[in-house]
Amino acid sequence: MRSLLFVPGDSEKKLEKGFSAGADVIIIDLEDSVAALTKPKARSLAAEAIRARPSGAKVYVRVNDLTTGLTDDDFAAVVPARPDGIVLPKSQGGTDVQHLSVKLRVAEIEAGLPDGGIAIIPIITETGLATLSTATYPGCSPRLAGLTWGAEDLAAEIGARTNRNAEGRYTDVFRLARSVTLLAASASAVAAIDTVHVDFRDLGALRAECLEAERDGFTGKLAIHPAQVPIINEVFTPSREAVDQANALVAAFADAGNPGVVALEGRMYDIPHLKRAQRLLARARDAGVLA
Ligand code: COA
Ligand code: MG
Repeated sequence: MRSLLFVPGDSEKKLEKGFSAGADVIIIDLEDSVAALTKPKARSLAAEAIRARPSGAKVYVRVNDLTTGLTDDDFAAVVPARPDGIVLPKSQGGTDVQHLSVKLRVAEIEAGLPDGGIAIIPIITETGLATLSTATYPGCSPRLAGLTWGAEDLAAEIGARTNRNAEGRYTDVFRLARSVTLLAASASAVAAIDTVHVDFRDLGALRAECLEAERDGFTGKLAIHPAQVPIINEVFTPSREAVDQANALVAAFADAGNPGVVALEGRMYDIPHLKRAQRLLARARDAGVLA
């Protein structure tokens, strides 16, 4: 999951376009990008689009959050179409994922689907308390497939006039939210997915943000526009050189009989370096650039 492209659920045109954008995952949105009166239409369009998806396409649905009273209707419409996963907005902690998981199980039974086939990715920093509760995700549910964060709702919640400084970098509170997402994803052994870049015309700024995210440990990023997808895919696909280096390191450990430390081209490498190389190779495999 390098790129996850949001598509508003009420737009037939965007739903059609979304599937040809080259994203690893399409997230059909039933929440903030869909007005209240249009939610019923969006639910049925979403179900139709999931059923008609090209083979191999991965589809998640962003449902309305657990306090809205709308989540059950969202599930009743889309779960029978069997999406790959659900994105839960405004998640307050691991217990919200458990709560959603129970609802999901009921919807799966009603639709005659197997237990646990549908994954969950919560957005974990959309309120102050949620951001302070991110240590509750590890072990919360076997459905947990990734964690992602949000800077727009959080800004509205805390009353920040902006979430970026004059240079375009996130201010402290938002960098904290970003950091706790990385830590919680690592502690949960699931994918860390960076938040959206809303300025969708500025592809240079998007690339810079992707490079920073990839450097720091995120393995993918949310997108809101098809033009963002190729850049996200490129940055989050390990480069040929990185793959060659990782392979050389893994081989060096294996050739030496798996000691704690090896030397390669005049540098020392120990177990954390080996782990990092193995993670990179796993990502390369997922991205299809390694057999
Ligand atoms: N998915 C699929 N298609 C999209 C798309 C998306 N997220 N965003 C834009 N497109 C399509 C447009 O419909 C347009 O199609 P056309 O050439 O057939 O007319 C084309 O891509 C170019 O779009 P563009 O004119 O550059 O942008 P726009 O002004 O139409 O749309 C947004 C801008 C922000 C409204 C739109 O990108 C969007 O809806 N993004 C998703 C919003 C969302 O889901 N938010 C919730 C998560 S934060
Ligand atoms: Mg939102």
